[in-house]
Amino acid sequence: MRTTAAVLWEPGGKWEVEEVELDAPHAGEVMVELTASGMCHSDEHLVTGDLPAVLPMVGGHEGAGRVIEVGPGVTELAVGDPVVMTFLPSCGRCPYCAKGLPNLCNDGAGATLGPQLDGTYRFSARGQEVGQMCLLGTFAKHTVVPVKSVVKIDEGFPLDLAALVGCGVTTGFGSAVRSAELCAGDACVVVGVGGIGANAVQGARVAGCRYVVAVDPVEFKRERARELGATHVAASIDEAWGIVSELTRGQMADAAILCTGVAAGAELQPLLQLVGKRGRVVVTALANAEEETATLSLLDLTLYEKQVRGALFGSSAAQHDVPRLLEMHNLGQLKLRELITREYTLDQVNDGYEDMRAGRNIRGLIRY
Ligand SMILES: NC(=O)c1ccc[n+]([C@@H]2O[C@H](COP(=O)([O-])OP(=O)(O)OC[C@H]3O[C@@H](n4cnc5c(N)ncnc54)[C@H](O)[C@@H]3O)[C@@H](O)[C@H]2O)c1
Ligand SMILES: [Zn+2]
Ligand SMILES: [Zn+2]
Repeated sequence: MRTTAAVLWEPGGKWEVEEVELDAPHAGEVMVELTASGMCHSDEHLVTGDLPAVLPMVGGHEGAGRVIEVGPGVTELAVGDPVVMTFLPSCGRCPYCAKGLPNLCNDGAGATLGPQLDGTYRFSARGQEVGQMCLLGTFAKHTVVPVKSVVKIDEGFPLDLAALVGCGVTTGFGSAVRSAELCAGDACVVVGVGGIGANAVQGARVAGCRYVVAVDPVEFKRERARELGATHVAASIDEAWGIVSELTRGQMADAAILCTGVAAGAELQPLLQLVGKRGRVVVTALANAEEETATLSLLDLTLYEKQVRGALFGSSAAQHDVPRLLEMHNLGQLKLRELITREYTLDQVNDGYEDMRAGRNIRGLIRY
């Protein structure tokens, strides 16, 4: 069938919105008609070349919609089902899934390389095969995705809000609750208040932190952070250090979560200084693939048992966590509507990323 998609043809290029050909789902796949897609910074990493990717590629990895066709042998989902598409698949059978770490599923390995899990392509345009960001490609009115990347949700839940849970909400919330292991009474610092950091703030609040310090150079982001549960805000890591030091009488935070647009090795030591004994520095933000140098005090790691941890999808288990996060929203415990700063049509995808770069959005949302 024909559909419309935003395709990246070359590193440093713009998203080109055009007619594309979409094949029917293969075994273990479904076709989804999208209601909305969030605009995460990770797609920007494809544009800047931070993430190794094979282009051309349909962008987008944070979406929700309805199943309109199922591939051969699919029994888990039926036509009409409302679904969230998650940016990492989980097969349920590989050693990592079996160990309870479905965010590290072996099927996620080639997520930015383009083709589907069976090595073939579903999209084509200009006589060329076109890949899908994270096996999804949510910058398209229709897409074909693995059942392993789909979570069925309750009928009636607003699909525009559900879209955000495919990446940003779950990644941020999980970074605080799961990766950072925050507990009631803890003190936490969230560095960077975009779509990910905003939800790390919410996670820290729900975990029961006594202090949640949100850091962002943009004033509007700091205001939003307060509304989402930050107890204190700062414009820089330096400023946050003074606040945390005074609030905790020098004991410092239990965790600092890095959610900036691009992670930088030079930030590691300042982050390490924000946390106290057994404190966790959680690296959720993505760095350039070639960034291999970071400065940090090894003695701090030993003497204070400070830890540096990576976090992928907030160490979340999609099939378990996505329905719970939606239910928490229904119960008034998790804000979703407030995360959407501006809405765009697919044609306006480049405007949306311009607004993200300029610090104007917590999250931009494409509505189909
Ligand atoms: N690990 C994962 O599973 C995962 C999943 C999704 C996104 N990500 C990554 O998380 C990062 C954040 O994504 P996003 O969509 O929220 O991005 P975003 O651009 O919406 O937000 C980034 C925020 O960081 C702020 N910022 C920039 N420099 C800063 C600094 N030095 N100190 C404090 N704040 C600073 C910006 O003002 C902005 O508000 C990106 O690198 C993205 O690729 C990781
Ligand atoms: Zn994302
Ligand atoms: Zn697996």
